[in-house]
Amino acid sequence: MSTGSRPRVVLGVAGGIAAYKACELLRRLTESGHEVRVVPTASALNFVGAATWSALSGQPVATGVWDAVHEVPHVRIGQNADVVVVAPATADMLAKAAHGLADDLLTNTLLTARCPVIFAPAMHTEMWEHPATVENVATLRRRGAIVIEPAVGRLTGKDTGKGRLPDPEQIFQVVRRTLVRGSSVPDLAGRHVVVTAGGTREPLDPVRFLGNRSSGKQGYALARTAIARGARVTLIEANTGLPDPAGADVVHVGTALDLRDAVVEAAEDADCVVMAAAVADFRPATRVDGKIKKTDAEPEPIALVKNPDILAELARDRLRPGQVVVGFAAETDDVLANGRAKLARKGCDLLVVNRVGEELTFGTDVNEAIVLAADGSETPVPHGPKEDLADVVWDLVVPRFA
Ligand code: CTP
Repeated sequence: MSTGSRPRVVLGVAGGIAAYKACELLRRLTESGHEVRVVPTASALNFVGAATWSALSGQPVATGVWDAVHEVPHVRIGQNADVVVVAPATADMLAKAAHGLADDLLTNTLLTARCPVIFAPAMHTEMWEHPATVENVATLRRRGAIVIEPAVGRLTGKDTGKGRLPDPEQIFQVVRRTLVRGSSVPDLAGRHVVVTAGGTREPLDPVRFLGNRSSGKQGYALARTAIARGARVTLIEANTGLPDPAGADVVHVGTALDLRDAVVEAAEDADCVVMAAAVADFRPATRVDGKIKKTDAEPEPIALVKNPDILAELARDRLRPGQVVVGFAAETDDVLANGRAKLARKGCDLLVVNRVGEELTFGTDVNEAIVLAADGSETPVPHGPKEDLADVVWDLVVPRFA
């Protein structure tokens, strides 16, 4: 592990066209004070040459184990790292890592590293979905590696699908969170968590809806931190307009009923469900097909019907035995008393209670809350980034996986 103040990152680059995007990740890491040693594979150098990696990192670059042998680089580089991130990780690299092959400097480094290891895969959809790759990814995750889900979009040729390297900024955020936590065994590795985010919109007609002011930022912070702690994350987002976080399976929904369908499907094999979305309690009783036109007459009142309480249903049904269910409560008055009553009413394991108002919480990057647990404990979380609150939530969820 590093003894200096600058965190030591090993950036492994495997042979895929997305190697050029790793240059941006490298810059982001060095500019924010990380010491980065780039270890490309020989095939990666077909895409981006050693001179580029060396100039951008300010460090020597080698691909094999026969350079500078007296320094025993095949052991030292891995041993000295605070985090190893492989971006792009090709199907071949995932296979080698899963099987412990060590035929070059990067694969040797992966075997000697005792720090967190992050893989950011990039490949064609067919390769990502091949049973061999699926098993290799499962093996790596089971051992505690963080394998972030590839993004969906345009691939090398004209085709599109899942397999794009996630946005370098998003990979950077996973690296940063992993370093902040400093844990060598990601405590959510092997877990599937479902997080909902945003606010549902209940349509009145094709152009109007009843909605709310939730930005979704707290739910996204929960997703990002869970990925950095090794979880497989399904993020169900409603109307946030935020970019998909790297490493999550993202489901886009509109209304409370859509959200309920998506959550129930995803929760079947989930270890934990966090309902951070602001779900509309009511929806218009009818959705008018064409735009409602203004006439000289006074408008008709809008009839509403109740939406299902998804959190209460999840807490009651526990779609998987031992599933941990977490709710959020936005309160304007009597925050604690209302929070306790809501926790009992909904039957969830944890309830994150925060005070909201026009200038408080909505749309900002900071939050302040108290987390109430069904066992009576209370954990106050001071004013700070939404990611800090998210990490406290996961800290409280992990011991509840019994
Ligand atoms: N929630 C839900 N389904 C609903 C309404 C809310 O699953 N139909 C979830 C939210 O995702 C959140 C929690 O319940 O996790 C609390 O939401 P809140 O709106 O504060 O609670 P309500 O049940 O609406 O209570 P009240 O209106 O009394 O504040």
